[in-house]
Amino acid sequence: MEAVAVNPVIKVAALCGSLRKGSFNRGLLRSAIQLSKESVNGMEIEYIDISPLPMLNTDLEVNGTFPPVVQAFRQKILQADSVLFASPEYNFSVTGPLKNAIDWASRPPNCWADKAAAIVSTGGSFGGGRAQYHLRQIGVYLDLHFINKPEFYLNAFAPPAKFDSDGNLIDPPSKEKLKEVLLSLLAFTLRLKANMNPNSLYLFSPLRDMLAPMKNAIDWTSGAPDARADKPATIVSATGGRGGAHDRGQLHLRQTGVYLD
Ligand SMILES: Cc1cc2nc3c(=O)[nH]c(=O)nc-3n(C[C@H](O)[C@H](O)[C@H](O)COP(=O)(O)O)c2cc1C
Repeated sequence: MEAVAVNPVIKVAALCGSLRKGSFNRGLLRSAIQLSKESVNGMEIEYIDISPLPMLNTDLEVNGTFPPVVQAFRQKILQADSVLFASPEYNFSVTGPLKNAIDWASRPPNCWADKAAAIVSTGGSFGGGRAQYHLRQIGVYLDLHFINKPEFYLNAFAPPAKFDSDGNLIDPPSKEKLKEVLLSLLAFTLRLKANMNPNSLYLFSPLRDMLAPMKNAIDWTSGAPDARADKPATIVSATGGRGGAHDRGQLHLRQTGVYLD
């Protein structure tokens, strides 16, 4: 009998940034769990409730230990191979409850490090897209590695109806797109676990937002077939003054990289 290579089942921790009972974003996670059971082989998604977490206060840490509910949450994150976030945007950024949960699991030792992640969101006009940018930025410090594509943000209020009165996703095209996110997260998690090829590293040196010649070079090589897709990259930069300009350059370059894969 021939041996058949079987991928391990990856464990995904699913976190919702909204605590609302009828949350549309939690509806996205319910749908993701359903999809993973029906049509994504090798993925197990567990919903992790962040509502019992106290507001972060380092006085609650005693001799390096955390309150039991925080400890249990940190353990769930540590045990996961990757993380699926679903969050609305509150005032153009991530929600308070989600940031609180992220901060608790970031306390040393950082539970997020080296995990793959994906963000989906739904809400008003832009579908929570601005919170996604901020969450990706938070992930830079935490060593969370987000999939670039596909991006999933859904206007919950534009017709036709996307959710029923209980917050369940009822829109077939959105379900199909959500499944693509899961497949991308699965593939990226497996790649991270197997280690990426270190020979394909790029070194950039951006100054002042993003220096025009470098952006020009990136744009020339961004046409199909995309010469930069699927490559690990790192950014270094140096500048005089207070450093704000090169910080922005790095942020913009990371954001460009989301599009370029
Ligand atoms: C405090 C607060 C701030 C909000 N800010 C924004 C915002 O900046 N942009 C937006 O599109 N929607 C905003 N909303 C609307 C939510 O995105 C919308 O109600 C969404 O459905 C909430 O997600 P949920 O259904 O998962 O609870 C805000 C809602 C609240 C409660």
